Amino acid sequence: MSEPTLKIRKAAGALGAEISGVDLSKELSDETIAAIRAAFVEHQVVFFRDQALSPERQVAFGRRFGPLNIHPYVSGMAGHPEVMEIVKEPEDRLNFGGGWHSDMSFLEHPSIGSILYGVEIPEWGGDTLFASQAAAYEALTPGMQATLEGLNAVHTASREYSSRGASAQKRKSMSVVEAEGAVGEFIHPVVKVHPETGRKALYVNPAFTVRFEGWSKRESRPLLEFLFDHCRYEAFTCRFSWAKGSVAMWDNRSVWHFALNDYPGQRRHMRRVTVDEVPAEARAAAE
Ligand code: SIN
Repeated sequence: MSEPTLKIRKAAGALGAEISGVDLSKELSDETIAAIRAAFVEHQVVFFRDQALSPERQVAFGRRFGPLNIHPYVSGMAGHPEVMEIVKEPEDRLNFGGGWHSDMSFLEHPSIGSILYGVEIPEWGGDTLFASQAAAYEALTPGMQATLEGLNAVHTASREYSSRGASAQKRKSMSVVEAEGAVGEFIHPVVKVHPETGRKALYVNPAFTVRFEGWSKRESRPLLEFLFDHCRYEAFTCRFSWAKGSVAMWDNRSVWHFALNDYPGQRRHMRRVTVDEVPAEARAAAE
């Protein structure tokens, strides 16, 4: 097993770094995985170029960071249920993930991170935007921070994955199970303390957060709209231009992302694995 020397170059002010000097298709040492994990939590999203990842190797790399999620509504790849194929065909109108969100915040135990690999990339367009929700929290006044720290929010998949939601819209190559009201609502703190860094981040998003706990939708709307607007301020963002073989790995606990849909008539094909949070009780039982 060779020991690669990682080079880490920041990509923007608020978040993002490119890591070079590592071949993710290889069996990496614990030290290398620890260095990638440290960069991932520090920079919130990390990028790799010129990788060649089979579905098996993407799963193997993802599993080094925790158990992999099997998406409850999007069918996985044949033979690899943990691999989600994110495909937009030239004739598809809507893309998947084309709005600001944090993956899987609608689960009781949301995901810690997503690892996305570029299989086929349009000649132009198809970038992904990322926004640091830690930077968004830190830019608020102490008064607003204190108010939000006392709040929890309700998250659900029912809007995005109902037949009218963008995630459930028919695409030629993606099979999405429509979730008509049969999905749960889960409560998460509005200010999430990162379990690995202690840094605070806002944890609400326009795709899956529907109201504050104990507040009606109507009461919640003005404050949620303020936050959704604030959280995507340009200075909190970075933008990744894909090439075939690129990988992005983002921290869903502190990052929003947005897949741009600006490449009509072209095909875009990505593969994603999503790392689950291990609930504290399960961690304690395993120790
Ligand atoms: C997603 O995971 O939301 C999709 C991101 C992308 O395709 O760029």
